[in-house]
Amino acid sequence: MKKQVLLWLLSGVLFLNACQNNTIHNETASMTFTISEKPFGQINGDTITQYTITNPQGMQVSIINYGGTVTNLLVPGRDHELGDVVLGFDSLSGYLQKANPYFGCLVGRYGNRIAKGKFILDGQAYQLTLNDHGNTLHGGVQGLDKVIWQASKPAGDSSLKLTYTSKDGDQGFPGNLVIEVVYTLSSDNALQIAYSATTDKATPVNLTNHCYFNLSAGKQNTILDHEVMLQAEKFTAVDSLLIPTGQLPDVKGTPMDFTTPKKIGAELAAVKGGYDHNWVLKRKGKDLEKIATAYDASSGRFMEVFTTEPGLQFYTGNFLDGTLKGKQQQKYQQHAGFCMETQHFPDAPNQPSFPNTIVKPGESYRSLTYYRFSVK
Ligand code: GLA
Repeated sequence: MKKQVLLWLLSGVLFLNACQNNTIHNETASMTFTISEKPFGQINGDTITQYTITNPQGMQVSIINYGGTVTNLLVPGRDHELGDVVLGFDSLSGYLQKANPYFGCLVGRYGNRIAKGKFILDGQAYQLTLNDHGNTLHGGVQGLDKVIWQASKPAGDSSLKLTYTSKDGDQGFPGNLVIEVVYTLSSDNALQIAYSATTDKATPVNLTNHCYFNLSAGKQNTILDHEVMLQAEKFTAVDSLLIPTGQLPDVKGTPMDFTTPKKIGAELAAVKGGYDHNWVLKRKGKDLEKIATAYDASSGRFMEVFTTEPGLQFYTGNFLDGTLKGKQQQKYQQHAGFCMETQHFPDAPNQPSFPNTIVKPGESYRSLTYYRFSVK
């Protein structure tokens, strides 16, 4: 009896303590999934809404319908304390600023680069808007990260569905592209992102998400001590503007080798500019497969990445320079976070040997990725 009372008291103290640290939310007590919403600012009279899904374990994801952006991802650490493992801003103005380096957003129509924003499809030349040293990055000047998505809540309270129609000619891309992205939290602490799209004209499609992870939840200023594994024996070699040369060198014996877990910082200095490359995933087939992991020993948080995609852009926040004021006034310095952007290869529309990215009328583009969290 005495023991029970002690345990009860102890759990009460822990709960209060966690509340004071603002690391636990009321929804945590819920044994089911919940989804809540609140206004997150306005763009030209349109209200932007922030949706928060909570799973029975208390894990939470918050998403705004501007850019389909993941603003917060609260995941337990070894000590059971929830911590926010993605970089971002506290308010909409942060996300709207020009310097926002694609924090947490959906990326498309074509994630990564298309050389000179040009490609030829069915004999016709297309010119996209240019936004990266004369090339097209992440879908052009106004990509899917900078538009307002239509949000709806499918049954079950564990998902948020976002839809957007990118009109024929948007950023220079052919075809009306109807896009649907469903974010789902699972009860085993995974954030799943399911992408689908259909078109009325042949067009390249390469959708992804641009979360910057720091599994220490801000306790470590950089991710250089995180240990990463990438299931890839090759990567797409790039020129000085990060455009693929078409070559797929072996990672073996180079700083690009993450086939066994290695600290991100171990050999980063030997890679000019830091890691910002597409790894060619070693896959068994086209089904969902685990292809990457990341581990932060300080918090115990472990992330596993599963995808149906053939490539992964592993980017180590090289362009962050401490000038952005992020959540709770954090200054995000270089390497404050890393991205694992599951994708088809950059510039595939101009590289016939790369896996196909052209979607035709009557076909359905489908892609599935999930980031699963646990502790070690
Ligand atoms: C991608 C690119 C990087 C950089 C970031 C956004 O990951 O590969 O070069 O442009 O997006 O800052």
